[in-house]
Amino acid sequence: MEKVQQVKNDGLMAIEKCENLEQLNQVRIDYLSKKGHVQGLMALMKDLSKEEKPAFGQEVNDCKQALTKALDAKMEVLQKDALKAKLEKEKIDITVAGYKPNIGTVHPLMMIQQELEDLFVGMGYSVAEGPEMELDLYNFERANLPKDHPARDMQDTFYITPNTLLRTHTTAIQMRVLEQAKGQLPIKLICPGKVYRRDDDDATHSHQFMQMEGLVVGENITLTDLKGTLRFFAKKMFGEDREIRFRPSYFPFTEPSVEVDVSCHMCGGKGCNVCKQTGWIEILGAGMVHPNVLEMSGFDSSKCSGFAFGIGLERVAMLKYGIDDIRNFYTNDVRFLKNFDRFD
Ligand code: PHE
Repeated sequence: MEKVQQVKNDGLMAIEKCENLEQLNQVRIDYLSKKGHVQGLMALMKDLSKEEKPAFGQEVNDCKQALTKALDAKMEVLQKDALKAKLEKEKIDITVAGYKPNIGTVHPLMMIQQELEDLFVGMGYSVAEGPEMELDLYNFERANLPKDHPARDMQDTFYITPNTLLRTHTTAIQMRVLEQAKGQLPIKLICPGKVYRRDDDDATHSHQFMQMEGLVVGENITLTDLKGTLRFFAKKMFGEDREIRFRPSYFPFTEPSVEVDVSCHMCGGKGCNVCKQTGWIEILGAGMVHPNVLEMSGFDSSKCSGFAFGIGLERVAMLKYGIDDIRNFYTNDVRFLKNFDRFD
């Protein structure tokens, strides 16, 4: 009996001393496993008389229960401590200032492109695209510029082979769409995209730039429709007070052809540096689609007519955002692009 008491007291003390769950587990093994101290006490039974056995057995059982209870209680305490320590260690100070994730910015030319697409799609236009490497056929011939036409010099061209080139204007896309339409009316589309010309790069020229051209073909389309459309465009892009004016011009694919000026958005037309004191800014070329162009693409020019216009996206972006060097769009200087960060 004394031995039982001894095991019980030693066990309780060992439990008490445990500082962590590993130690406690070791005590459980030492005392309660098959080879543990409590089982060891049972082995003593065989030396006892029949009368002594029940009381001894009872005592060992009590001892076992007492130790189990103490182990469980201690385990609960240690588990709570362990959780507390873990939470303490993993504590996050949510008041510490965070890092601002570096997200890219929309390129200003893309902003202009998207803005223009929204504007024209809102007027019922669809958006068409085409290849940057183009056939002479669509870039020139169908646009009323046969081989050896002097006006080909207006657009210095990167030729790849005698019949393939880097498109010099998005008019090439229009010629493709006209062909696909197979004479079906109406046609109402804008074509945004990159174009290439053999220019020396400087503040206002780039060998690669972006255009968005528009084309409308239908019955009774007139110059007045063109004027109304471009007036709407000018007001939406540069402010409600803007007015436009037409000056006669020449493009092989339009007749008549016009150069379109917008009243200066900086000075309101009074004259300033941006408009070179004229009050007007030259913004795009346009005109009525040349009957030859319609005929070559399979339209009957006695039954339909159309207008076309070509907008340079860099020019619009430069005027709108006050950018004075076209090369800024292409040198990928993050400091420049950051000016257009919507989240700053
Ligand atoms: N394609 C002409 C250019 O790139 C622009 C233009 C388009 C002019 C449509 C008139 C009509 O210069």
